[in-house]
Amino acid sequence: MHTFETMTIRSPLTPTEWDAYYRLRFTVLREPWAQPAGSEVLPDEVTAEHAAAYDADGTLLGVARLQTNSPTTAQVRCVAVAPTAQGRGVGKALMAYLEDRARQRGHAELILEARENAVPFYRAIGYTTRAESYLLFGQIQHWTMGKELIVNSG
Ligand SMILES: CC(C)(COP(=O)(O)OP(=O)(O)OC[C@H]1O[C@@H](n2cnc3c(N)ncnc32)[C@H](O)[C@@H]1OP(=O)(O)O)[C@@H](O)C(=O)NCCC(=O)NCCS
Repeated sequence: MHTFETMTIRSPLTPTEWDAYYRLRFTVLREPWAQPAGSEVLPDEVTAEHAAAYDADGTLLGVARLQTNSPTTAQVRCVAVAPTAQGRGVGKALMAYLEDRARQRGHAELILEARENAVPFYRAIGYTTRAESYLLFGQIQHWTMGKELIVNSG
């Protein structure tokens, strides 16, 4: 499948874009496990940094968010690519964008709790498995993964 020739990654801006952002998160990460509407919104969305990938015509392709855990460590959560756009480089581009943001903010490492199905994806983009983590919705095994961020000194 082809990659997207033009893809823009930025925070959602308008109320319509924010609706679509959370709707995609819900559709990909909550609805298949019969979780209620609203469960896709985390308590600290206001302080998180948000990334949304848009096609040339403005279609939302994928979403992800970044939070600060400590001065050294940032965490990515809620990575979701639209089913029709999966396997075409959107997840990789979202992660590269948030890694750049974390580097700019001076973090030395990025960690995440990976769903078991997504572990090969994170491995492919340089993350290593650090520990077995929690079971979500009684079904989805998670693995703590991390990546050191190389900060350009020049
Ligand atoms: C997991 C997910 C975020 C990956 O995003 P994506 O856009 O489909 O992945 P990409 O096309 O950017 O893949 C990037 C790289 O990872 C590799 N990869 C992706 N999925 C893989 C898999 N299941 N097994 C092996 N490699 C995989 C790709 O081959 C690619 O490698 P390359 O750059 O060498 O070609 C996306 O498929 C998704 O939203 N899945 C459902 C929700 C989910 O599980 N989210 C993660 C929660 S922790």
